[in-house]
Amino acid sequence: MRADQAINLEDFKQAARRYLPRMIFDYIEGAAEDELALARNRTAFETIELVPRFLCDVSTIDQSAALMGNVHAFPVGIAPTGMAAITRCDADLLLAEVAHAAGVPFILSGASNSAMEKIAAIAPSAWYQIYVPKREDIRRDQIRRVADAGLGTLVFTVDIPIYSKRERDIRSGWVRPYTPSWGSKIEALRHPRWLLNYLRTGIPTLENWLPYCPPGSGPMDVTGFFAEQAFAVQTWDLLRDMRDQFKGRLVVKGILSAEDAAMAVEAGVDGIIVSNHGGRQFDKGPAALTVLPGICDAVAGRVPVMIDSGINRGSDVVAALCLGASFAFVGRATLYAVASHGREGVTRALDILRQEIHLAMASIGCIRLSQLDRSYLR
Ligand SMILES: Cc1cc2nc3c(=O)[nH]c(=O)nc-3n(C[C@H](O)[C@H](O)[C@H](O)COP(=O)(O)O)c2cc1C
Repeated sequence: MRADQAINLEDFKQAARRYLPRMIFDYIEGAAEDELALARNRTAFETIELVPRFLCDVSTIDQSAALMGNVHAFPVGIAPTGMAAITRCDADLLLAEVAHAAGVPFILSGASNSAMEKIAAIAPSAWYQIYVPKREDIRRDQIRRVADAGLGTLVFTVDIPIYSKRERDIRSGWVRPYTPSWGSKIEALRHPRWLLNYLRTGIPTLENWLPYCPPGSGPMDVTGFFAEQAFAVQTWDLLRDMRDQFKGRLVVKGILSAEDAAMAVEAGVDGIIVSNHGGRQFDKGPAALTVLPGICDAVAGRVPVMIDSGINRGSDVVAALCLGASFAFVGRATLYAVASHGREGVTRALDILRQEIHLAMASIGCIRLSQLDRSYLR
């Protein structure tokens, strides 16, 4: 399949399944424990219905989305995904470049393989997601670097108070100290296109952490350092301290309760991403979409509420916007696309989402995002 032959995002998932060794595919697709939260995310989107309204002129549909002082081409950005370069070297750079060209935000993961300075040079509209280190001097330095690089938005992921139990990763050996099972090694050999790409750069480095490691540290040393530093004890005081330190836009990611959303607004954040980390953290937690309306009610328009977790169609984005979200993000979808088809894949994946949003808006008789509200839902 060529990238332009993909009809929907599922096509990229299947292409990635063929391209990647099972261990890497499972790292992306997998979630916590029984993967119930992962399934719940999809069920929430699959069961929501939008009621069509007819006899409206939908010949011109405007998807431009205002968000925290910027206007984006359409209301979907790329969520942060750590170790993306294991799928294809330069994955972070490709995702950032394509998102920037498409006029939507890309969030660079705190466990990314490309340094934030490199990303800022090619995609100044990118955001940076921080995994707060235990050492305060490193935290302060990372926040300073975000500002110095000219990245205007810092995302604080709060939903990892502890490492979760991802059973696919444990089985395949994709956990520190990284001892892939024999099966995983054989799998790698059976995926020569991926293997060749991987051999071009070898094990990717967590480049944002390199400056804090001793000179000459290799990728595994840096990963070890990251594992030792991540994560600081995360409290509301920490959030307030980060608010004081970072003068740009501060967003919290991973909020799932109305109470936490209201406290985050009071702590001075500029935006909230409702997310269950794609089901990867707490298997008994709710789907992001289910808790979205209560959170939007609690926030009452004081800051934008965004969402990720389970979005696989443009109509999912429209449904989330009807429930009160201002913007949506996808994690796995664009990662599959970059893995299987590189730059062309991400371009096509974002195009598919944009076209599907257009289709859904036309179907319910809506021509601009600000018209979307709960009256379209059943
Ligand atoms: C492979 C992978 C790595 C991820 N790494 C991070 C990360 O480093 N930081 C973060 O805040 N979220 C991370 N996430 C969660 C995503 O940002 C996002 O919340 C989630 O993927 C959204 O769900 P979706 O995949 O169903 O779109 C990761 C998700 C995946 C699939």
